[in-house]
Order: sequence, then structure tokens, then C-alpha cells
Amino acid sequence: MKNKGLFITFEGIEGCGKTTQMNLLSDYLKKEGFSVLKTREPGGTRIGEKIRDILLNPDNKKMAKETEILLYGASRTQHIEEIIKPALKSGKIVLCDRYTDSTLAYQGFGRNMGISFIKRACRLSLGTIQPDLTILLDLDVKAGLDRIKNRKGGNDRIEKEKIAFHNRVRKGYLKLAKASRERIKIVKADKEIDEIQKEIKDIVIRKLYRKK
Ligand code: TMP
Repeated sequence: MKNKGLFITFEGIEGCGKTTQMNLLSDYLKKEGFSVLKTREPGGTRIGEKIRDILLNPDNKKMAKETEILLYGASRTQHIEEIIKPALKSGKIVLCDRYTDSTLAYQGFGRNMGISFIKRACRLSLGTIQPDLTILLDLDVKAGLDRIKNRKGGNDRIEKEKIAFHNRVRKGYLKLAKASRERIKIVKADKEIDEIQKEIKDIVIRKLYRKK
């Protein structure tokens, strides 16, 4: 079944500014009269937010990487069934803060798990829903980590990973973008917020017109 809506995901390393940019885009699209649903992964549902707490709690140091990927998948399955599918069916523009590219970049490249295993796990949890467009905010890892180091409440379990992990994640994202040039658009995130937002808006507007 073809979705009436548009599914846009935001991706990038820690501190790349994707949440800020997604919020600005949402405000813009709403002002233009579009019906927009903002959501995030892990989370987005009551069950998913509980899973998020487990995944990001820095006390859960013993979490096996297989447990980690299955929990991200479980949160995603719930999210798709409860939120994403119905929203797309009713014609909404769904803006999602992270999705399967995060799993490929963080668990696949960051944790060095085999990409074919990750793809299989993703297929199991996501069914057939793929983003129409993915905005990848690309930033130097050190710059990103500097931005988040004084975050209120401290850093979470993933943010606390070593810099080598975050470097693998960034490289992984860039590889994914190279392999899916049509869907994943790289936007440099080391610029002023307004400048970045203008670039994102241009990409999204082009996509919206092509979809009509
Ligand atoms: P954020 O939504 O605040 O960026 O935090 C979510 C964290 O979870 C972030 O460090 C990336 C990580 N993550 C994964 O490792 N795999 C995934 O599949 C997803 C969705 C997120």
C-alpha cells in the first residue's frame, strides 16, 4: 500500500543539532499548512519511552550488544505500529528523530556488529516502512561531543562511549549516505542554525514537490 504522507528522518552523531533542526522544520511546515507529526527513536510511544530509559541509563553497563539491538528493534516495532503507520496513512508528514540508519551506524559500525546481521534485525522490526527522505547532519565528532558535555542531567550510556566509537559511527553514516544518495542528504552541521535550516527546508520542499 502506498503511503499518502511523507516520512522524513533526522540522523547524525551526538551533538549534531538534529533535534533543534527538526523542531524548526516542524514549525515551518505547520505554518505552511501541512499536518506534521514529530516523534523520536528510541521512544515515541509509552512502551518505547520505557525501553529508551533502559537503553540510555548509564547504570546499564552490562548490556550485551545483542540485547541492545533487540531493544532498539522492539521500540521501533511498537513505534511503527502505534504511531508511524497510522500517521502516514492519514497523510501526515512524519518527522522522526533517528530511525534505522542509527541502528546501522551505532550498532553496525559503532559496535562492529556485522551489517548483514543488523539488516536482518532491522527487517524483522520494521516491516516495509522506509523513510522517503533522511537528513544526515554531519559534524566533526569532537565538536559534537564538546556541545553535549555539559548537558543537564549528565551524559547517557551511549554518549559516554569512547571517541573511537563515535568516530566509527560518523564514518558509518557517511558510508550509508554514499550508498543511498537519493534518500540520504548530507547537510554540514558546523554552520549557523538558520543557515542549516535553510538548506534543510530547500531539500524538503524539493521532495514535497516531487511527491505531488
Ligand atoms: P537521542 O535520541 O537523544 O539522540 O539518543 C538516542 C541514542 O540512542 C543516541 O546515542 C543514538 C542511539 N541509538 C542507537 O544506538 N541505535 C538506534 O537504533 C537508535 C534509534 C538510537
